[in-house]
Amino acid sequence: MKQTPIPTAKSSSGLRRIIRQMNALLRPLNFMEERKRKYGDFYQITFKNSPPTIMTSNPQAIEDIFTASPDKFEVGKGNKGLSFLVGDHSLLLLDGKAHKNRRRLLMPSFHGESLQECSHKIVSITKKVCDRWQINEPFKIRPYMQEITLRVILNVVFGLDSGSRYERLRELLTKLLETFNTPLSSSLIFFPILQKDWGKFSPWGRFLLLKEEIRQLIYAEIKERRSLSTSEKSNRRDIFSLLLLARDENGEGMTNEELHDELIALLFAGHETTASGLAWLFYWIHYLPEVQDKLRFELDSLGENPDYKEINNLPYLDAVISETLRIYPIAAGTFGRRLTTSMSVMGYDLEPETWLLISIYSLHHREDLYPNSKQFKPERFLQKTYSPYEYIPFGGGNRRCLGSALALLEMKLVAATVLSRFQLELTSKRQMLPVRRGLTLAPPASFKMIVKNKID
Ligand code: HEM
Repeated sequence: MKQTPIPTAKSSSGLRRIIRQMNALLRPLNFMEERKRKYGDFYQITFKNSPPTIMTSNPQAIEDIFTASPDKFEVGKGNKGLSFLVGDHSLLLLDGKAHKNRRRLLMPSFHGESLQECSHKIVSITKKVCDRWQINEPFKIRPYMQEITLRVILNVVFGLDSGSRYERLRELLTKLLETFNTPLSSSLIFFPILQKDWGKFSPWGRFLLLKEEIRQLIYAEIKERRSLSTSEKSNRRDIFSLLLLARDENGEGMTNEELHDELIALLFAGHETTASGLAWLFYWIHYLPEVQDKLRFELDSLGENPDYKEINNLPYLDAVISETLRIYPIAAGTFGRRLTTSMSVMGYDLEPETWLLISIYSLHHREDLYPNSKQFKPERFLQKTYSPYEYIPFGGGNRRCLGSALALLEMKLVAATVLSRFQLELTSKRQMLPVRRGLTLAPPASFKMIVKNKID
């Protein structure tokens, strides 16, 4: 039987292409919704003399992609655009056996016992950071959430939580990410032509200087750690020490450059995203009073000083976080996957080198899966179990987010700690929509809250 052709969106060039890219950058939700309305949930974009790009938000196509052998795709090449931030040697840019081995090495640090050990740290960092809030003084919540998640990931990755090198690193990483903290400044990432070093007063020049200082600090830390004895290294439980001890099949350890890139990648991937997730979580809890009431009721049922494991297992809190990551997913799409061989997706035979892109946002707004998808309704996650091809805030398959369990644990413990100590309000009752922040979608940077009461 003859297949119906795949709907095709025409590629544009020159000025039209720039307008289209600016549209995607500055009006991301409208752009994705318009495309879906026009072309459906499985369409292609064709370019002259090159294989097409498939864009999908169809659960069957997503299942085909996530369950296929990882050998069928290359992801590192697609992530090459991230090397300005994370270098060329991190997990994000690896493929094949090297990628598999690196994931296997890192995975235990983000799961099970290692993760439970972080709980205490997450709570104590949250208390320390949020205790600076003053009654009746409006404050931007994002920087506080970013400070919490950065302190947590520095602890997980480096095992550091004090000292001048640690404080400087924290300060520099925060400043570096500020380079892309508005929709317009995010264009630096998407338009390489803007990446011009015109000295320290130009955005790109400043970015390069900060990056270099971070590199030097990390290299100093690598040098110091390498000089520790093997037993000193094995006694430490952080990821840095794990990477220092790792050997490949030829008995070779990682080079300084490889170590640097991996550490940087984990630091970035591990805190920007979670900070945005937390900012949204506080928005929804305070935008919808009934959500806050139910959440407080559930948290109160645990009594004073609840066990962290009990908080982690609360069903309504879990549903509120799931809905937060559904309605405005932090990553609007997964990494691009490039076919290394031909492959059948949804019954269509796709040729090698075709790019496959999955729109998380469009999938999470399918009315057949999420009726009234624009409404925030945590109950959907209590009434139905979604498959890993219907709900994918952390992507899937062999590239599924390595830190998803850490991110969820952080969101739960930070929310429970803050709600038990403060009564907060939004400073504006207006509905908030996501804006582009670097590679992700986030609440607007101006988002403010106010402390109405501190709970003793
Ligand atoms: C709410 C927070 C987070 C969200 C929404 C998120 C989302 C994602 C997504 C969508 C991907 C791409 C998956 C794919 O293409 O299939 C990804 C990959 C990744 N994430 Fe996260 N992430 C979060 C937090 C974290 C944290 C805390 C870490 C900890 C270090 C982390 C580390 C990574 C890494 C290393 C990858 C690359 C995995 C690979 O290439 O094999 N993420 N994440």
